[in-house]
Amino acid sequence: MNDPIFKNKTIVIGVTGGIACYKVLDLIKELRKLGSKVHVIMTEASTHLVDGKDFKKASGNEVQISLFHPKINYIAYIKKNKPIKHISLADIADLFLICPATANVIGKIANGIADDLLTTSITATIAPVVICPAMNVKMWKNPIVQDNVKKLKKLNYHFVEPEYGELACGYKGIGRLANFRKILERIKLLLKQRNDLKGKKIVVTAGATIEAIDPVRIMTNRSSGKTGTKIAEQAFLRGADVILLIGYNSVEPSYNLKKERFTTVDDLFNKIKKNIKNIDILIHSAAVSDFTANNKHSTKIRSGKELHLELTPTTKIFEKLKNINQKIFLVGFKAEHNVSKNFLVQSAYDILKKADADLVVANDVGKDGRGFDVDTNEVFIVSKENDIKHIRLVDKRVVADKILDTIIKKL
Ligand SMILES: Cc1cc2nc3c(=O)[nH]c(=O)nc-3n(C[C@H](O)[C@H](O)[C@H](O)COP(=O)(O)O)c2cc1C
Repeated sequence: MNDPIFKNKTIVIGVTGGIACYKVLDLIKELRKLGSKVHVIMTEASTHLVDGKDFKKASGNEVQISLFHPKINYIAYIKKNKPIKHISLADIADLFLICPATANVIGKIANGIADDLLTTSITATIAPVVICPAMNVKMWKNPIVQDNVKKLKKLNYHFVEPEYGELACGYKGIGRLANFRKILERIKLLLKQRNDLKGKKIVVTAGATIEAIDPVRIMTNRSSGKTGTKIAEQAFLRGADVILLIGYNSVEPSYNLKKERFTTVDDLFNKIKKNIKNIDILIHSAAVSDFTANNKHSTKIRSGKELHLELTPTTKIFEKLKNINQKIFLVGFKAEHNVSKNFLVQSAYDILKKADADLVVANDVGKDGRGFDVDTNEVFIVSKENDIKHIRLVDKRVVADKILDTIIKKL
């Protein structure tokens, strides 16, 4: 009955105060049969609805309820500088499941509230979190609940949506805890994904370069670095050893990623050269300036009169990378503005050939909701075999995962 994907994985289950909480006992038994280790955190509300002893028996582990352990003298611990393991379950989890999830816990997580053991552990974990809501249909349809769900989905929390049916409160509608098969399928997918880049060394470049005109004025572009940062974050969550080279003014990545900030095209190229040896994959999503000012002024240029700048082309970094390390799997990006799909894909393929790259991700930044500084994108992933994968308009985090899925298939 053991399944290699579930085997020896630690799954922490948060049980909250919904009527469906007794149903989770069967899910816990199933997870253990598949080979996982299960720990249960109950909220105080859930202890009114189900006996903690049943969860202890089903999981084979002590059930945790309180954030503060009654037998620990925290004041003495702090005075002696001893480590306090109040969020140890957040660290050992391969996956967090909240099942059933109340409207209350969804609202607390969405707003960063950490006022009990479950919400504190969720705030502290980098493991994937799967949320399985179950509640009265009116609660589920409440716009505040729906807004919280939307916000969490954007932040990469995974939802197994409730189903339509008879509800314990006597109503009929959407709100029943999802079928266990669906929950198990989602857990399996995330566990599989979690380590599929383990052992891989990846450098990701993201954001805009900056070229000086004079000591106060610069030339740059509208890239926010969101796409590359999300790729780096997802690769990190999937087990890769990641270095993110990110533009000076670009977004701040999560998860304490190893990162170095770059400024000019030359600076970025030097940082790539320093990091490119012994890596497996290079994903070059940085928006590199095509030009630099010829004669940079060492003092501030006076205003009020015409100014002619002379620009020279910068190094085409992407085309040089395979010459420095032939073994890397090289991924580039191509942005076009308001062009046809055929033109977009062809220009991606052209730069792929020039750089001897493995994949190029093409997007049209002239269309709404795509490209610079937004949270969504629509892309075409073009491979050197010239197969084309279309990713419809979705959150950049989903785009990041799809790019990583394609890389893994091609490696
Ligand atoms: C008998 C009973 C059943 C409940 N069932 C649900 C439910 O299915 N879903 C839900 O969101 N809230 C439900 N609630 C309300 C929650 O228990 C309440 O919002 C509580 O504050 C949740 O706390 P927790 O999220 O910390 O577990 C129920 C309350 C009672 C008294």
